[in-house]
Amino acid sequence: MKPKVLVTREVFDDVLEYLSQYADVQSNQSDEPMSPGALAAALSDKQGAVITISDRVDGALLKRCPELKVVCNVAVGTNNIDLAACRSAGVMATNTPGVLEDSTADFTWALILATARRVTEAEDYLRTGKWDRWKLKQLLGTDVHHATLGIIGMGGIGRVVARRAAGFDMTVLYHNTQPAPKEVENTCRATYVSKEELLSRADIVTLHVPYTPATHHLVGKAELAQMNSSAILINTSRGGVVDDTALIAALRDGTIAGAGLDVFENEPKFNSDFLALKNVVLTPHIASSSVVTRHKMVMLAAQNLVAALTGKTPPNLLNPLKD
Ligand code: 8YV
Repeated sequence: MKPKVLVTREVFDDVLEYLSQYADVQSNQSDEPMSPGALAAALSDKQGAVITISDRVDGALLKRCPELKVVCNVAVGTNNIDLAACRSAGVMATNTPGVLEDSTADFTWALILATARRVTEAEDYLRTGKWDRWKLKQLLGTDVHHATLGIIGMGGIGRVVARRAAGFDMTVLYHNTQPAPKEVENTCRATYVSKEELLSRADIVTLHVPYTPATHHLVGKAELAQMNSSAILINTSRGGVVDDTALIAALRDGTIAGAGLDVFENEPKFNSDFLALKNVVLTPHIASSSVVTRHKMVMLAAQNLVAALTGKTPPNLLNPLKD
């Protein structure tokens, strides 16, 4: 008898074919997000699941899933999973590091450039028929080259963002819970500074931290006030790391010049006050969304699932069940 598994959202066909060799697969290819009740019902007889950040796995859910042995997130971030509750329920949890850093860093750069050079605002100007003549002062932007980049969170993605900055001849500052090893600082040409120094010196502040109680509203009213009025803020990490209400106020009153955001508090129901602001570039949580990377992410999640269900240690196990 093959173990029963659930794939909670639409994935690539070859990933389902791979899983079907090892498991009896139920998959939600309609792609409607599952409510907590529907997820618990679907998981009640399953040994494993490939899940996404829209699926919350916590103690309440786990109580209703007695057979469950492993949940495999299609994401590097794990704030949708209560790891301690998984551990006490004897459920392994995995994520997908190592396959999405380059694509997420590329997209961070897309947001940096789009925000600094007002790309979406300019396109809207053209598309809506406002372009009637050349003007010297048309849509003046901010230079990225030779500017100072401030990276908060120097993990896998932050480091790739830093390396890309060399092409723009930038000064790179970073802040992290701990300084990175010297060789990383050298490859990234990055200098460790306090959060306060980074906020006050950087022309571009970009966030690459996980979302935890410690990073909730890491950038709020006080931090925005420490930034330069010409600076921009980029967030491709998680909604909740930035206080969106405070950011909207700062963008409105000129505390900072602009923002590029791929993630939001309460997404996909983000604060609609952002829509009235021209100095913000908004995208729907797509930083890792290239064909190749999304395929690698879901295949890695499937490989973690197969490893767990065939008695091996999943390569990206987050919560070893035995000390
Ligand atoms: C994912 C992400 O696309 O990996 C993460 O943590 O935020 C993105 O790369 C997203 O989580 C979809 O599951």
